[in-house]
Amino acid sequence: MIRLCNIYKSLGDFKLKNINLTIEDNEYFVILGPTGTGKTVILEVIAGMYKPDHGEVWLNERNVTEEYPESRHIGFVYQDYMLFPHLNVEENILFALKLKKTPAKIMKEKLERMATLLNINHLLQRYPATLSGGEQQRTAIARALVAEPDVLLLDEPLSALDPRSKEVFQQELKQIHRQIKTTTIHITHDFNEALVLADRMGIMCNGEIVQVGSPEDVFHKPCSQFVATFVGMENIFNGIISDESDARQVRIGPVQLRVASNLLGKVRVAIRSEDIIIAEDKLSSSAQNILPASITEIVPRGPFFKLFLDAGIPLVALVTRQAIDEMRLEPGKNVWAVFKTAAVHVF
Ligand SMILES: Nc1ncnc2c1ncn2[C@@H]1O[C@H](COP(=O)(O)OP(=O)(O)OP(=O)(O)O)[C@@H](O)[C@H]1O
Ligand SMILES: [Mg+2]
Repeated sequence: MIRLCNIYKSLGDFKLKNINLTIEDNEYFVILGPTGTGKTVILEVIAGMYKPDHGEVWLNERNVTEEYPESRHIGFVYQDYMLFPHLNVEENILFALKLKKTPAKIMKEKLERMATLLNINHLLQRYPATLSGGEQQRTAIARALVAEPDVLLLDEPLSALDPRSKEVFQQELKQIHRQIKTTTIHITHDFNEALVLADRMGIMCNGEIVQVGSPEDVFHKPCSQFVATFVGMENIFNGIISDESDARQVRIGPVQLRVASNLLGKVRVAIRSEDIIIAEDKLSSSAQNILPASITEIVPRGPFFKLFLDAGIPLVALVTRQAIDEMRLEPGKNVWAVFKTAAVHVF
């Protein structure tokens, strides 16, 4: 288990502020945030490269705040891998075990296990300069894992890979974690990566962790405008909830929407574009919001299309090519925008 208690660290103009975070045994925790928000600094505080100005770092019920990095049993894979250029893959992986004078037989067994786990058996005699980014990545992870650390820290391990290799390696990382179960913190900018890998995730902004939760929670119930935008929410509005009765409504300009929220007064309202269904006929259901809307623009977006709508408020919906063909959607057409009460997130 990793516990960060009230961590504060000042580095020049940058401040890591008030970090409180508990990561459970065997958990795969992803930290997500834009560049320069302190993601790497958090890992370096956990690993002991930086001592916090205030606060404590606990690893497995041990206060390690004053301990040297070497005694913390942490495996750290850096953003740029940092393999030893003059050592081949095998020597890189076994470097720490050799320093500890591990018996040759045990080193051989561990090397075989790691090389198989990371699929690099064929690379063992190669030097880092001759390896692709992905191969260096695998080698760096093998080198970190061979020491059987209590905690694995991965700083943007997949950022150098192309989209397809990224997807493959994400699945592999998940499987490796299922096998070895080492408590892991993985840093990324990529929300999809977090969705695939994370048991839980934390979102960082300006040196602070602003939301912690399951990927589902963060994705569907962002706690602020920053998080909502960061996870790709497109429909974000100012609203007012004034009604204290059961059938809660939020007013956004000329539009009233049903919501499930205990908040009152001025709020922000967010609706995911993929939660908005487009219908030609007015479906009736009390649990839903149903707005008449006219299509203003249709823009391709990967395998989907973005539909820009005027529903009294500007809405963006995500639809398939099939939906466009079947309903003959085009700019100027009048449709209904339908979404559940639960799709209207208020914060
Ligand atoms: N030793 C230092 N002295 C002064 N400023 C520092 C130091 N180390 C880091 N910083 C600053 O702290 C901020 C956070 O850095 P950090 O490397 O944690 O960002 P990050 O979230 O990992 O970004 P990226 O996604 O680009 O890797 C940056 O503005 C960086 O310039
Ligand atoms: Mg970084």
